[in-house]
Order: sequence, then C-alpha cells, then structure tokens
Amino acid sequence: MKVLIFGDLFWRIWRKALIKEMDSLRREYRPDFVVVNWENVTSWRGPIEKHMKEIHDIWVDLFTSGDHFFDNEKNLLPYLERKDCKLIRPANYYESEFYTIPWKGYEILEKNWKRLLVLNLLSETFTRDHVYNPFLKADAILKKVEKKEWKLNWIIIDFHKEVASEWYWMQEFLDGRVSFIFWTHTHIQTNDDNISELWTWLISDVWMIWAKKSIIWSDYGSLKKRFLTWINKWKIEQSLDSNYIMNWVLVDIDDKTGKCLTIEKIKKFWKII
Ligand SMILES: [Fe+2]
Repeated sequence: MKVLIFGDLFWRIWRKALIKEMDSLRREYRPDFVVVNWENVTSWRGPIEKHMKEIHDIWVDLFTSGDHFFDNEKNLLPYLERKDCKLIRPANYYESEFYTIPWKGYEILEKNWKRLLVLNLLSETFTRDHVYNPFLKADAILKKVEKKEWKLNWIIIDFHKEVASEWYWMQEFLDGRVSFIFWTHTHIQTNDDNISELWTWLISDVWMIWAKKSIIWSDYGSLKKRFLTWINKWKIEQSLDSNYIMNWVLVDIDDKTGKCLTIEKIKKFWKII
C-alpha cells in the first residue's frame, strides 16, 4: 500500500500548486492514498470553507490538521458538516460536558480493497493549545481500534509538534502498533527517517511546498527589516516568487504485516505559470 504524504498545505500558491500537480503526481507515483496536512491553508491559518471547496475535488483522500484548527472554525463549520468532509483535527483536545470539539480526530480510508487509519495528534509543548496527553490518547484510540478488529491494512499518525524528543518517544511507545509516524508544523524536512526495533517507521517532518525566495512563504524583502533591526514590528508579506520547491514523502506499507517497506523523500522544483 503506497501513501503519498504532504506537510503543511500553505497559502494560495500552495493550493494552486497542488491543484496543478496532483494529476501528474498520481500518474507518476500511483499511490493508494494521499494525505495532506491542511493546517495553514488559508494564509498561514486554518482553512475557511471557500478554500476547502477549492481543494476538495483534487485527488487527496484526507487533510490532517494541527494547532490552527480553530482559526476559522465558524466559517469552516458548513464544510465540517458535509458528509464527504475530508478533514480531521487533532484527536487529543479536551472534551467534556462543557465543550465538545467539532469533527473527529481520526479517519479510516478505504480504497482498492485496502483500509488505512489516519490519526492526528497535537503536542502542547511550545504550541498554543493545552491538550490531553498525546501518548495516552494514542494508546486509548489504538486499543479501541484493535478491539474492534476492523482489519485495517494499518495505521499512520500525523503528530503535530515542535520538539523531537516527544516524537521519538512516540515511536518507542507505539512500536509495532503503527506503521508510520510523521511530523508536521516545523516546515523543514529532516533526514532522520528510521525504523524501530519492531518496525514502526518515522520521519520527523515531511516538509512542505514553499516559494524558493522565501522563508515559509514570507518574502525575503519584507524580512530584511526584521533581521537587520531585530525589531518585531515590521509587516511580513507573502513571497510572489513563482518558483517553488515541492517536498513530500512516499511510504510503502506491506498490506499484510503493516510493516513499512520504504520511505522515499522526494523534492522537486517547479514554476507556477
Ligand atoms: Fe502548526
């Protein structure tokens, strides 16, 4: 089972790039599933309904999220209420009788006689939200899933976070129960992909698409004043460079054992015409 994974979908040019490239990526890599982290899709912030409609029909099976889930919650609600909604949000927000979080934290994808569970988690270390312990939440959800014997061809996790230590520990903690854990939010692809003792693979950040002359889409020119004065008052503008770097990972998972067979890190340079 092949899964194509993109980190942080970001801004208008990213949406345009994904819409433009997805058909050719699909032909070239023939993935069974495509999973994209959508958390910055509306100008560095969580999506509005209009932007989800824009990307809903492209060949993506699921959009995962992170700490920007609530940014445009009110506007997004009509999309969340759609039966064919393709979004999930971090599963470990606190829920109680006082407040129920809209939508869900994991999804089971089915296609080509294959079933894949995608779980989304958030860490609270250096992020804005206080959330329930992601390790305990992952364990509880996996126990629930394992009990139901849904005959999954396996499980992958988008763990949205800042620090590597939690992430490496997640691999140790869930070793042998999850095929692949990837990290989003930090926006730089890492070279630490490795397989654990039992067979859970990880990569701590799959990176994203960004304009070549930019820092996470921030225009070099508008960053100049900040870097040369160290005063945090200058407005940051979006880079208009049409050359962009597109990064993703292609994961191959054995259908029967759930073991990850390979992780391919792919980087391409493109130009938006
Ligand atoms: Fe984030």
